Amino acid sequence: MTLWEGRLGGTADEVMAFTASLAYDRRLAADDLAGSRAHVRGLQRAGVLESGESAVLLTALNRVEEELASGIFVFQAGDEDIHTAVERRVTELAGDVGAKLHTGRSRNDQIATDLRLYTRRELLAVGAAIIELQDTLLHRAVEAGDAYLPGYTHLQRAQPVLLTHHLLAHGWALARDLDRVLHSVVRMDVSPLGAGALAGSSLALDPDGVAEDLGFGSRFENSLDAVSDRDFVAESLFDLALLGVHLSRLGEEFVLWSSEEFGFVVLDDAYATGSSMLPQKKNPDVAELARAKAGRLIGHVAGILATLKGLPLAYNRDLQEDKEPLFDAFDQIKRALPAVMGMLGTAHFDTDRMRSAADGPAAAAVDLAEWLVERGMPFRQAHAVVGSLVRDSVQRGVPLSELVQANPHLGTDALGLLEPGVAVTRRTSPGGAGPKPVAVQMERFRHRLDLDRQRVSHSAAAAHVMGSADDVARSEA
Ligand code: ARG
Repeated sequence: MTLWEGRLGGTADEVMAFTASLAYDRRLAADDLAGSRAHVRGLQRAGVLESGESAVLLTALNRVEEELASGIFVFQAGDEDIHTAVERRVTELAGDVGAKLHTGRSRNDQIATDLRLYTRRELLAVGAAIIELQDTLLHRAVEAGDAYLPGYTHLQRAQPVLLTHHLLAHGWALARDLDRVLHSVVRMDVSPLGAGALAGSSLALDPDGVAEDLGFGSRFENSLDAVSDRDFVAESLFDLALLGVHLSRLGEEFVLWSSEEFGFVVLDDAYATGSSMLPQKKNPDVAELARAKAGRLIGHVAGILATLKGLPLAYNRDLQEDKEPLFDAFDQIKRALPAVMGMLGTAHFDTDRMRSAADGPAAAAVDLAEWLVERGMPFRQAHAVVGSLVRDSVQRGVPLSELVQANPHLGTDALGLLEPGVAVTRRTSPGGAGPKPVAVQMERFRHRLDLDRQRVSHSAAAAHVMGSADDVARSEA
């Protein structure tokens, strides 16, 4: 049986095989049921359903929910998608009244509603997981104390930085990810239910009441836009892709740092993998896959934009292709975040290795130049003085300290700058990598994290997403 048997004859099997979405959209079942309940209550308020009828429908919807939850729901060959399956079963359970469920509604506004409910909840769960990862970063940052390592540009040693500073750099990127997620949630908080197939209805529907019932901040303004808008999918995919890119960059550093060449980090056994052939290997597969998943997430962004770009208003079946990339992106990110968090939380930082790499003779080159600046020399000239000392030292194999001492501009007074551990303490400007500004930064980060934790809980509460942000994260795990 199809939903359009009044108009068309049977559908070919291969058409069904090609067009059906049930295999993946069944994960929207809970949201579909929520949408249907709100719709039924709206129809009753509109006087389209009598209270007895809506009670029968709501009971049937509850029964469907139980059947789905306990795994006894039987999907049938004609169930093209989750909407069809639910409506079919409601009709079996509720008899004639079941035929009234879809009054004034189309699968077009229905799917748009389901997917917004789902996406809003999932994004908030991702938000809660981001917070946990940031918390781990903060923990490790606190623990790092006065450890320092070389900071790099072009992957060449540049200036020493506190390990705390380096870890928090990733934390701030995640703070932007979280901010983006929360803003996307606000933008997508609009109910499309009541837009019908594309133009609304002749029946006295109550889209405002339905929106409120579903915990949306508002209802659509334009029915054509309501059923064709997938900005929220594209935006979410971008949010997840950029988050993926940040995890990828962190992953890449762990790949480098765990190599024998760097030796800055030793991964916990539980977060490393071995080799099937080489007995000595300990591989950073979590970090590598964190790096790789970004490619796939970026692909999803490109894919959805390409799908959307040529679509005339309003609904087109092309829009069904929004779901698999979106679901996949959530699945990947929700597995990546705890894995990366575990890797980071359990890793052993070899701070001796970091320190000896950072204490290379040229680490304080810019400090020598700035020392000259403080004594009145223009920076460009100071840069040239120190640059030629470094060049001499490299070419003639003479220790830089000897050349500094012998230099008339520098001399013994400047030698202290070359002492191990001194350079990093001289990064005193706000937001800089030395102990003073980093202590300030850490407090600001902690404060921001507290605020963001509250923002996630508030958004979840506003969206009628049950429980605290932590519960959300757990239920989505
Ligand atoms: N499975 C469809 C989708 O995901 C639901 C909407 C179908 N609408 C239609 N007119 N065929 O987009």
